[in-house]
Amino acid sequence: MIIGMLNGPNLNLLGTREPAVYGTTTLGEIVAHCQAVGHELGVEIRAFQANGEGPLIDQLHAWRGEVAGVVVNAGAYTHTSLALRDAFSATNLPFVEVHLSNIYAREPERRHSMLASASIGMVCGLGAVGYEYALRGLVQALRTRN
Ligand code: DQA
Repeated sequence: MIIGMLNGPNLNLLGTREPAVYGTTTLGEIVAHCQAVGHELGVEIRAFQANGEGPLIDQLHAWRGEVAGVVVNAGAYTHTSLALRDAFSATNLPFVEVHLSNIYAREPERRHSMLASASIGMVCGLGAVGYEYALRGLVQALRTRN
């Protein structure tokens, strides 16, 4: 089983980006950790990050038939992008949403996710380890389904 890991805008700067909010772990470290967890779970991880909405949508299209599901942190597009949710629906890719910060404890404009209604579930507020939990939850859900 192959799992996609999709990261949106500004997440390439993790490690130095607002460390008080997002921690000091880099995206590379998060992906490497998830690859190790994936190895334990018997799944392969394909990671992609982009700062633009179009490339994120194009990647979901490209993953059709290739990945079984996606762990996604859409960054700020979480709160704005109906197009990204449509891309998940259009590709039929099951997904679990992850956020490093607790979006429900932040500014009002971050308290709504455009993606959540189409997701299997969400992990938020647990920092970098949330990616691992999202991955484990997604794989468990996919294995239970199939
Ligand atoms: C984020 C939360 C978003 O509101 C923000 O725009 C991000 C990161 C998080 O992981 O906590 O870029 O998705």
